[in-house]
Amino acid sequence: MSGGVPQLLAGKRAVVTGGANPRGIGAAIVRLFIEHGAAVAVLDRDYPDNDAGGPRGGGPVTLHCDVSNGASCEAAMARAQDALGGIDVLVNNAGIVAATRIWDLPEDEFRRMVDVNLTGTYNVTRVALPALLASDRKPAIVNLGSTAALRGGGLLGGSHYAASKGGVISFTKALARELGPRGVRANCVAPGIIETDMTLGKFGENWETELKQGIPLQRFGSPAEVAQAILFLASDLSSYSTGIVVDVNGGFHIH
Ligand code: NAI
Repeated sequence: MSGGVPQLLAGKRAVVTGGANPRGIGAAIVRLFIEHGAAVAVLDRDYPDNDAGGPRGGGPVTLHCDVSNGASCEAAMARAQDALGGIDVLVNNAGIVAATRIWDLPEDEFRRMVDVNLTGTYNVTRVALPALLASDRKPAIVNLGSTAALRGGGLLGGSHYAASKGGVISFTKALARELGPRGVRANCVAPGIIETDMTLGKFGENWETELKQGIPLQRFGSPAEVAQAILFLASDLSSYSTGIVVDVNGGFHIH
């Protein structure tokens, strides 16, 4: 307990990708994980290449990593493992979005989307896996899907975004099946419209009002609200859940 709050990740060592943007979901995950007692390493392409990576005043270890590049993931994960002494939780949060419609969608943009969102999730998982399998602290993987994967994009995500996130959801389910017998859980969070740089100011006032009216909870979500669902899936609170997709969408998509 710290200040009366139960520490749901006490003793856990967590790697979170895509946490460099202070207004993003990744940064909210890192803040909440640290609050709950985890030691955290953050991997992001926006950290400098020569980042010393050391923890800063109780904060996370920060490491440069382009998740779409296998070698970059391998180097960053080795340093994360050295710094943390092991890995018990992996959150694949790094991602990009684009609304390009299919008739304007060039092959290189489609490939880039899949490279970052789907292959990136595979790349990071692959290099974290030996440490996760060696963990005796109830290891868990949490991946970031999206409502776009479930409803066919249509808002800020085009077909390539929806397909990449659909791939992440299927990949997570397969991980759950393959890794369950070896003691590693794998689950997904599917956020709806969350107020980050990906979405803020992107709809225009009229469309934003209309969208909010169509959401049962009548508002967009916050990064902290997504982080709370991820905390649940990363912690032992969800010890009998694997292969599930938790919607964090205010009721925007109910199925
Ligand atoms: P953001 O753009 O604020 O943060 C994304 C982070 O990923 C940034 O720090 C960026 O530097 C990093 N990143 C991007 N490409 C990378 C690469 N190749 N290698 C390493 N790091 C890379 O976005 P936000 O909104 O915080 O999104 C986080 C995750 O949540 C993404 O996977 C996104 O698809 C997902 N999501 C977001 C929703 C939203 O409404 N904001 C809705 C549904 C899903």
